[in-house]
Amino acid sequence: MPGIIIVGSQFGDEGKGKIVDYLVETLNIEHVARYQGGNNAGHTVVVKGEKFKLHNIPSGVIHGKVCMLGNGMVIDPDVLLSEIKGLQARGIDPKLIISPLAHVITQKHKDLDRKDTKIGTTKRGIGPAYADKISRTGMRVGELNNSELSKYIGDVSLKLNEALDKNKNVLFEGAQGTLLDIDHGTYPYVTSSNTIAGGACTGTGVSPKKIKLIIGVAKAYTTRVGSGPFPTELTDKTGDSLREKGAEFGTTTGRPRRCGWLDIPMLNYSVRVNGLDAFALTKIDVLSGLKELKICTAYEHNGKTLDSFPTDAKVLEKVKPVYEILSGWGDINLETWHNSTKWPKEIHNYIETIEKLTRTPISIISFGPGREDTFIRHKIKA
Ligand code: IMP
Repeated sequence: MPGIIIVGSQFGDEGKGKIVDYLVETLNIEHVARYQGGNNAGHTVVVKGEKFKLHNIPSGVIHGKVCMLGNGMVIDPDVLLSEIKGLQARGIDPKLIISPLAHVITQKHKDLDRKDTKIGTTKRGIGPAYADKISRTGMRVGELNNSELSKYIGDVSLKLNEALDKNKNVLFEGAQGTLLDIDHGTYPYVTSSNTIAGGACTGTGVSPKKIKLIIGVAKAYTTRVGSGPFPTELTDKTGDSLREKGAEFGTTTGRPRRCGWLDIPMLNYSVRVNGLDAFALTKIDVLSGLKELKICTAYEHNGKTLDSFPTDAKVLEKVKPVYEILSGWGDINLETWHNSTKWPKEIHNYIETIEKLTRTPISIISFGPGREDTFIRHKIKA
């Protein structure tokens, strides 16, 4: 009865959608569940050259998998319905089950969110909808009077547990990333839900006992959209080139993403709060052509090296990253990426350095947007 959680290890936009898409096929997964967030998330999945942009529905829907939207989500019915219609127009009839316990994003929530100037939210009404949920004044999906939506409503917890009890693999797809978690992220510069692996259980009604594997998706560098501390941010030409080469513009809002070097203290924090078994390292191809690469190995604060990740965003804002400098590698063609024996030694070194510093295996390497642009270093077994 293995449950597998895929979670973002940084500030979101790590490429979770593509990794979910890949694993759904390779692990023969029939059920994919989202457990938090709403249409603040968004991912683009490329299947056989065809581009799909999704905000609520997990990418497994494209392959006819049963997709669940858990109670931990907040749902904008108009956006969800137009996503369903968009899929139908392309010949995909989504197999969808929406929890009646998920909360509804209303016009009032969107209007309130538009007033945000501090956090740099996606202005989709996410925070205000969760605020109403916690204040016990919110409206739940089960109360909606919309015949089109109600045909998809079902008991997500029951269905997922039935599937797990029949020994079916269930994949839980996290949205956003660990550092945007409402409790464990860089508060107040966070989203309004529990993005970490633990959220999968509360956000769907599945016991932690049923989770067998937790994979953290990490970009080979770091990006962040919106305000908040970002110790390894690059505001120079290298940052601009990562943005251009990595097409680092938000899927949901189109905003340019802030870019920076890979941050090991952040990844180690993510390993800890999520209990990561392995990493999937994405967009490594974007680093090709750089003469040297920096990896932040520690933070200094007030002249001292911190021995754990700061819980206070105000401290994180002031830390000084300590860097290890690694040699870069030249441009690589796709064929070479597919064959690790042909990789320049600098690529192996970059990957192995991260593994050593995080004490976590990097099992999947992604070097392009397509499902086929993926290299498996260790067999994934739930
Ligand atoms: P909200 O989730 O719209 O309330 O925005 C809160 C913070 O989370 C802002 O900094 C957003 O930019 C960020 N955020 C929300 N969703 C995503 C995402 O899917 N990727 C990256 N950042 C996100």
